[in-house]
Amino acid sequence: MKNLRHCSSSTFVIIFIHILVTHNEGFDPVIQLPHSNRTLTRSKRVLSVVDYGAKGDGFHNDTKAFLEAWKIACSLNGSVKVVFPFRKTFLLHPIDIAGPCQSKINLRILGTIVAPRDPLVWHGLNQHKWLYFHGVNQLTVDGGGRINGMGHEWWARSCKINTTNPCHPAPTAVTFHRCKNLKIRKLMLLNSQQMHMAFTNCMSVVASRLKVLAPAFSPNTDGIHISATRRVEVKHSLIRTGDDCISIVRNSSRVRIRNISCGPGHGISIGSMGKSETWERVQDIHVNGAYLYNTDNGVRIKTWQGGQGIVSKITFQNIVMENVSNPIIVNQYYCDSQKPCNNQTSAVKVENISFIDIQGTSATEEAIKFACSDVSPCEGLYLENVFLASCMGGNTSSYCWQAHGSTRGLVYPHTCFSSSNDFLRQKVGLDSSPAIQSI
Ligand SMILES: *[C@@H]1O[C@H](CO)[C@@H](O)[C@H](O)[C@H]1NC(C)=O
Ligand SMILES: *[C@@H]1O[C@H](CO)[C@@H](O)[C@H](O)[C@H]1NC(C)=O
Ligand SMILES: *[C@@H]1O[C@H](CO)[C@@H](O)[C@H](O)[C@H]1NC(C)=O
Ligand SMILES: *[C@@H]1O[C@H](CO)[C@@H](O)[C@H](O)[C@H]1NC(C)=O
Ligand SMILES: *[C@@H]1O[C@H](CO)[C@@H](O)[C@H](O)[C@H]1NC(C)=O
Ligand SMILES: *[C@@H]1O[C@H](CO)[C@@H](O)[C@H](O)[C@H]1NC(C)=O
Ligand SMILES: *[C@@H]1O[C@H](CO)[C@@H](O)[C@H](O)[C@H]1NC(C)=O
Ligand SMILES: *[C@@H]1O[C@H](CO)[C@@H](O)[C@H](O)[C@H]1NC(C)=O
Ligand SMILES: *[C@@H]1O[C@H](CO)[C@@H](O)[C@H](O)[C@H]1NC(C)=O
Ligand SMILES: *[C@@H]1O[C@H](CO)[C@@H](O)[C@H](O)[C@H]1NC(C)=O
Repeated sequence: MKNLRHCSSSTFVIIFIHILVTHNEGFDPVIQLPHSNRTLTRSKRVLSVVDYGAKGDGFHNDTKAFLEAWKIACSLNGSVKVVFPFRKTFLLHPIDIAGPCQSKINLRILGTIVAPRDPLVWHGLNQHKWLYFHGVNQLTVDGGGRINGMGHEWWARSCKINTTNPCHPAPTAVTFHRCKNLKIRKLMLLNSQQMHMAFTNCMSVVASRLKVLAPAFSPNTDGIHISATRRVEVKHSLIRTGDDCISIVRNSSRVRIRNISCGPGHGISIGSMGKSETWERVQDIHVNGAYLYNTDNGVRIKTWQGGQGIVSKITFQNIVMENVSNPIIVNQYYCDSQKPCNNQTSAVKVENISFIDIQGTSATEEAIKFACSDVSPCEGLYLENVFLASCMGGNTSSYCWQAHGSTRGLVYPHTCFSSSNDFLRQKVGLDSSPAIQSI
């Protein structure tokens, strides 16, 4: 275990990087538009935005062309492809792409889609949205291309970058709202204005082979945000941004996350929850297989005081951390506002949370932190085979406040759970079945 104490030389880390990072260049330019006679009939069902007037020069406003192609695709029967061709750059202004559709649409992004650079384009429009899909069933978005939010101007105007700026919202690059049976795969998302991709009020989502990239300093640029969504799989993806790699909030459940490489960024987060005294329930989340590198947090649960509801049945498993500042953290005193938050008499309950097979290095001494609520202590915390060494040499430590639970196997640093047996719980039953069928 000796070489675990160096932040960048652990053998398992190198193996993990090899698996996760070196093999991720799978963004091949896939589509060949059909040429053979037989596929020509089928090619009526392939609509290229170029045929609807898109210039693809990165300068002209291609929004109308896309909307027209979408409208036609949406009204057809059966399976239809809408294509953004290879080697072209399409400038899209903020748009609503609406369902329901008669057809099953496959949006193939082979080239690049870019946003307007200038936030003034959003004047008079909803500042939270750029590409906003809603009410679509059975949509697949793929193609190996890129979606670039061109976020630099938005970041410069953020109150997190310059505190003299007023705090304004900024767009989520791609939002799927009230979508069902959604598949997103093989795409690169870059430099989004704020969050990169959000699923809100959706049902049955598979996101795989995504590459999400933005600078570490870019504010609030979460990779994948899951809100009020049930049955989600996120897998085989690389996320390097300025905020949470994956965040899960508001009544989401049955989320499966595996083979994720994350960092820099703020790690994998449940929450924040309970802001502005809301009631929320996040449950049945299983993260199995993640590599976190140089992140501010590893696996985290964050709730605001004053909220209500519950976070339960969460498992973080098979996780490798390297130079992570707060590898394991539950914070029920989360306060991401410019004024300090007052102590409140209610809290989101945190119960039955397991941390299993988690190894690596911590950039701070305090590798495990359970800062639970006075009014609603954490119950059923469970740690098994956890080893978090210090990056700086020396011992790591853990912090507990109102934290109840149990451990099994080697756990380092040792936990400081309150030993009240009333609160000892068995580990959360692991349900290994996938959330939905694999793609
Ligand atoms: C398609 O094939 C048929 C016969 O198989 C032929 O008569 C027709 O000319 C072909 N059409 C095109 C556009 O090549
Ligand atoms: C771009 O095109 C869309 C669709 O026609 C239109 O609504 C929007 O105003 C255009 N934006 C600019 C800046 O021209
Ligand atoms: C789609 O299919 C339905 C019934 O299957 C039919 O009534 C309708 O005319 C078809 N529409 C088109 C555009 O082909
Ligand atoms: C912050 O913004 C103010 C005004 O918006 C500007 O004068 C100042 O130079 C900015 N500071 C930095 C560090 O960019
Ligand atoms: C893990 O994800 C990466 C992409 O980040 C992919 O290249 C690799 O094949 C995946 N590994 C497995 C075992 O599926
Ligand atoms: C979560 O669901 C409950 C009941 O199903 C609802 O009352 C609550 O408003 C929801 N919370 C949020 C944040 O959507
Ligand atoms: C560890 O992470 C911090 C940021 O959290 C970074 O400044 C530092 O350079 C990293 N150290 C190594 C050895 O990568
Ligand atoms: C909230 O409670 C904590 C500990 O119970 C205390 O240290 C802190 O000062 C309190 N904060 C406020 C704003 O009252
Ligand atoms: C937590 O786990 C215990 C023991 O398995 C179970 O009795 C309890 O209902 C669970 N709580 C929640 C909120 O799932
Ligand atoms: C680390 O902990 C061990 C056991 O508690 C102790 O003997 C040792 O002195 C500690 N090392 C440092 C650098 O504090």
